[in-house]
Amino acid sequence: MKFGHFDDAGREYVITNPRTPWPWINYLGNEDFFSLISNTAGGYSFYKDAKFRRITRYRYNNVPMDSGGRYFYIKDGDTVWSPGWKPCKTDLDSYECRHGMNYTRITGEKDGIKAETLFFVPLKTWAEVQKLTLTNNTSKTRKLKIFSFAEWCLWNAATDMENFQRNFSTGEVETEGSVIYHKTEYKERRNHYAYYSVNVPISGFDTDRETFFGLYNGFDEPRVVLEGRARNSEAHGWSPIASHYLEVELKPGESEDLVFVLGYVENIQEGKWESKNIINKKKAKETIARFDTAPKVDAALEDLRNYWDNLLSIFTIDSGEKKLDRMVNIWNQYQCMITFCFSRSASFFESGIGRGMGFRDSNQDLIGFVHQIPDRARERIIDIASTQFPDGGCYHQYQPLNKRGNNDIGGGFNDDPMWLILGTTSYIKETGDFSILDEQVPFDNDMSVARSLFDHLTVSFDHVINNLGPHGLPLIGRADWNDCLNLNCFSEDPDESFQTTENKTEGSRAESVMIAGLFVVYGRDYIELCRKTGRQDEAERASRHVNEMIVTIKKHGWDGGWFLRAYDFFGNKVGSKDNEEGKIFIESNGWCTMAGIGSDEGLCKKALDAVKERLDCSHGIVLNNPAFTKYYIEYGEISSYPVGYKENAGVFCHNNPWIMIGETVAGNGGRAWKYYRKICPSYLEDISELHKTEPYVYSQMIAGKDAFNPGEAKNSWLTGTAAWNFYAVTQYILGIRPGYDGLIIDPCIPEDWKSYRVTRKFRGSIYHIEVTNPASVSKGVKEVSVDGEIIKSNVVPLFEDGENHTVKVILG
Ligand code: BGC
Repeated sequence: MKFGHFDDAGREYVITNPRTPWPWINYLGNEDFFSLISNTAGGYSFYKDAKFRRITRYRYNNVPMDSGGRYFYIKDGDTVWSPGWKPCKTDLDSYECRHGMNYTRITGEKDGIKAETLFFVPLKTWAEVQKLTLTNNTSKTRKLKIFSFAEWCLWNAATDMENFQRNFSTGEVETEGSVIYHKTEYKERRNHYAYYSVNVPISGFDTDRETFFGLYNGFDEPRVVLEGRARNSEAHGWSPIASHYLEVELKPGESEDLVFVLGYVENIQEGKWESKNIINKKKAKETIARFDTAPKVDAALEDLRNYWDNLLSIFTIDSGEKKLDRMVNIWNQYQCMITFCFSRSASFFESGIGRGMGFRDSNQDLIGFVHQIPDRARERIIDIASTQFPDGGCYHQYQPLNKRGNNDIGGGFNDDPMWLILGTTSYIKETGDFSILDEQVPFDNDMSVARSLFDHLTVSFDHVINNLGPHGLPLIGRADWNDCLNLNCFSEDPDESFQTTENKTEGSRAESVMIAGLFVVYGRDYIELCRKTGRQDEAERASRHVNEMIVTIKKHGWDGGWFLRAYDFFGNKVGSKDNEEGKIFIESNGWCTMAGIGSDEGLCKKALDAVKERLDCSHGIVLNNPAFTKYYIEYGEISSYPVGYKENAGVFCHNNPWIMIGETVAGNGGRAWKYYRKICPSYLEDISELHKTEPYVYSQMIAGKDAFNPGEAKNSWLTGTAAWNFYAVTQYILGIRPGYDGLIIDPCIPEDWKSYRVTRKFRGSIYHIEVTNPASVSKGVKEVSVDGEIIKSNVVPLFEDGENHTVKVILG
């Protein structure tokens, strides 16, 4: 069953039934000010950091789900309704939500009144702009009462939810004209406040939540709305809100636009006050003035559209396969930008409190958007590297506001350092900007011990070889990519977190074959980079280690039919035919086949066949098999999940592309493509009822074959799945891959694909690439011509001339 449809020309997903199986959300803003918005206008806003600068309040895990948002209440006689259906849930005559690129438009119609609400964060603006357009489609003059609503969060989203003995006494507001200011804690250490304005005179307002709702009423029946008059309440402590009250009269056929601005301001210490206890409103007023008419708002939306036109013009495909094209051209790239902005911090599954920007996560996210905003990628790489330690280890995450690493979600994940090589080399291949390697980057944010970024890559590489276990494989540390494979944890205490509990690393023999494969892949990238930058000796040294690792993997990481996953604390095999459960895992088989380890001896083929046979199912490739049916104290969190969910044999979408890429390395385009389709959201639209999450973005996890409800997805939006799938499909299936010296063309497609076109802007030129497959092969480039001339290799040269170039590729 579907709940809407794609509008490819408008680059929108159009939801036509508000009762989606889970709130289907969108993100507004892509730089400093952000909002999450569901298809019924639920969600919240924050500045930079969803934990420390939460602007509006949201209640996760509430009943009903998705309670709280920016709401408009329309009182029309005795009927009260909202354009987004919620919170009133009054039946609408029509409803439509269009989620677009960083904007959302929700339209409801009731008894001849149409209310269209447009929400977006204009470029370079610290505010969410909301345009409410009311239209009277009847032949009578209509009088409406409009109430806006936003609830302030007391800034720190964590303490906002727990420290009520203080919170209920701190709230402070100010109102002036049609603007309501939220200034809690401004008097003391904060130099920021928030505001909510409307561009017309108001007939009243409310800022005290209990006055607005009545203590025992829900969002669906605010007392002042039911009574049809504002009470002009002023919050002192308790829970401050912002609600404007407006009276609107519409003649037959008439429309009126109202523009609301929900914004954030920072003042310098000396400029905080206008007069005693009266905040300096200058900046707020400047922003409000920028959007005080509908044409100004429309122009800002147009700017946002142009911004996205440009971003999405860098890689476009025309394959004739609609569902593929819409993912590659629009939604997958869009999701990559969102994961770049938020890492794993704020979604409808991530509370914005627990997790900031992940070291491994952000490096991987980079590969999905570096072609779009390389400057911001560069900045991100430096930020991430700045949280590294001198020995190459690193904090697992940092908070975006202060950019300092922290151990809030644990540390000592031994895969982390390698991802910095991926992030950095991807950036250089895209841009050719080798100068980033010379940037002086601190360790643990301490500039006095800064070294070049290149040195950071060296210590990343060395961190693996300095931490080898008894078999010569990398020690796993707290965990590798799979946070939940906790081989040094041994937790018996339900009150401790698997991620932060003290590890028993002394005497541990726990090693990771996944990190070993990762090391070979990015070790080779490191070697290539050394060669490119004239560091021959370092390249030789690194090559020796990489070659040794390959030998070690073949010797100790091969289980006969597939690659082992790990050795546990005691030196026992994990992911082996000898294990009772968890005989085979996806990660090590992904990385070792991507690295092509033992491909000449048939190891990769065997491993990929084993994955197909044991891990593949109709919803994707599960993480491990058989699922763990009991708690294994020596494995930790992975065995804590019910079978078929999350890391315990769920389809963990993030790592499916590793197998897709492994398949393309082995030349199996058909299989890679089948795996791609299985988890690709646009191909799952028809089973939305089962899939539950948005059909326009990837989810972290789809319940696997052993689960109670196979096919049901969770954790949509913030997942490395976005970047990896974009990377796999564009660089390995379609085979258009940035290289240091040009654009590498190396497709691996199903044999029955006849042709496709890709336009790729790269290093200052526009390449129009046409790939044809007359001999029905899966892989192999027979001929490449550029501007009519046949070239000798499959690397299209750089022109850097701002011109268009025609590239014709014949497979065979
Ligand atoms: C985390 C990743 C991790 C993955 C697998 C995700 O939730 O953000 O860092 O690799 O889970 O455990």
